[in-house]
Amino acid sequence: MSYETITSEMHGAVLLVRIDRPKVLNALNTTVMRELVDRFAAADRDPAVRAIVLTGSGKAFAAGADISEMAGMGFPDIYGADTFGGWDRFAATRKPVIAAVGGYALGGGCEVVMMCDIVLAADTAKFGQPEIKLGILPGMGGTQRLTRLVGRAKAMDLVLTGRLMDAAEAERAGLVSRIVPADRLLDEALATAATIAGYSQPATLMAKEAVQRAEEVSLSEGVRFERRLFGSLFATRDQKEGMAAFVEKRKPSFEDR
Ligand code: HXC
Repeated sequence: MSYETITSEMHGAVLLVRIDRPKVLNALNTTVMRELVDRFAAADRDPAVRAIVLTGSGKAFAAGADISEMAGMGFPDIYGADTFGGWDRFAATRKPVIAAVGGYALGGGCEVVMMCDIVLAADTAKFGQPEIKLGILPGMGGTQRLTRLVGRAKAMDLVLTGRLMDAAEAERAGLVSRIVPADRLLDEALATAATIAGYSQPATLMAKEAVQRAEEVSLSEGVRFERRLFGSLFATRDQKEGMAAFVEKRKPSFEDR
């Protein structure tokens, strides 16, 4: 399928996806959503893809949902037709996703960042949930994910005032995994993804699922879930290979089995 608003290319076993509407700061219209959902679902099915990097273009990761598109919508479009429901499918991507954030990640852009697993931010990046200034509130999980990630105090501050955070504050708050110089952003993101791509895929997928589960369940339930996943990996050849390689002081050769 050819896409209008995104581009994608393989770098070894890493899929690099770029949101490509720089003239409107990569505003996330429904076409972007549909195309990202389609591309990420295809990547999940494709054994050649072992990790994904999502980035923007120009001076933004994404400056939010497309305000021009939303402006004329009514309650039946937003709620009845579940126009933005595709983002839940995007968030359900099973393979590891790294957000490489250069410039603005605002509103829906910040919410997409929070659906990714690792967030690398350029030192120039800016994050925020400015929806309140438009007479709305975050609608792609922002109030929920932000509160879990940065805590109530900071989430209330950001959601109620609409102010922006720079990369340093976002890292201190727990929204960003690492800050890198702007000119190294993509290289660092691709290198991080390549590292993950080199590991056994069952272990990688389960590790992601286990960390995600921590956001949903009690500690004892989460620990039990982790223990079951941990045990199940001892039924894989890759566990035998990984441990044998360590003992024999050589590099492991994983087969995803
Ligand atoms: C549509 C947008 C846009 C957006 C920017 N543009 N953000 N178009 N939707 N979210 C367009 C501008 O209209 C402008 O088009 C061009 O991109 C460049 O933007 P400027 O404003 O001229 O750039 P600058 O002065 O550098 O300011 C950058 C900015 C500002 C601070 C990021 O653009 C801004 O405040 N944008 C809106 C941010 C926002 O409110 N996001 C939340 C959206 S609501 P022209 O044609 O004039 O060149 C949301 C809800 C999610 O995300 C929930 C959905 C379910």
